[in-house]
Amino acid sequence: MKAVIIYGSHHHGSTKKLAQAITERYGVEIFDAEAGEDVDLEAYDLIGFASGIDFGEFYPAVTAFAERLPAGKAGFALYTCAKDNAKYGEQIRDIAQKRGCVYLGKYGCKGYNTYGPWKIIGGMNKNHPTREEIEGALRFYQGLAAQMENGLS
Ligand SMILES: Cc1cc2nc3c(=O)[nH]c(=O)nc-3n(C[C@H](O)[C@H](O)[C@H](O)COP(=O)(O)O)c2cc1C
Repeated sequence: MKAVIIYGSHHHGSTKKLAQAITERYGVEIFDAEAGEDVDLEAYDLIGFASGIDFGEFYPAVTAFAERLPAGKAGFALYTCAKDNAKYGEQIRDIAQKRGCVYLGKYGCKGYNTYGPWKIIGGMNKNHPTREEIEGALRFYQGLAAQMENGLS
């Protein structure tokens, strides 16, 4: 089973921390969607899309990669945000399903936020993602990998 995470994390690198922890523990490949690198998504079975949330949405460079998902792949979403909302990640779910892929779910947690007035007071969620939140992302990924190994049944 070959897996990759395509991420965008331009605010404070919070989302990258989740993706990097998964990479380090499970040997998953990782690409920065905002660095202009190209990735052949055909080469992977499991493809994750990781992003901070801007105005309720994943970063455009990340969703642009999702729009290129080859049919038959398995996809998942990872994100960090100021305040969680059940809708975050639905974009990736909808794109994956539209492209004939299996959507395996999402993991999201708080990330450091300095948007607008928060900047003046040093930002919110300063110590996020925490070690526990990163462990949560690792457990989430472990579950996905197990599902893949069991043939998505
Ligand atoms: C311009 C801007 C818009 C944002 N919009 C949202 C939002 O709609 N909902 C939310 O929960 N967080 C929002 N945030 C907070 C970011 O999603 C959060 O800081 C995230 O951890 C950034 O991820 P990154 O450091 O990986 O880029 C926003 C932050 C900025 C700077």
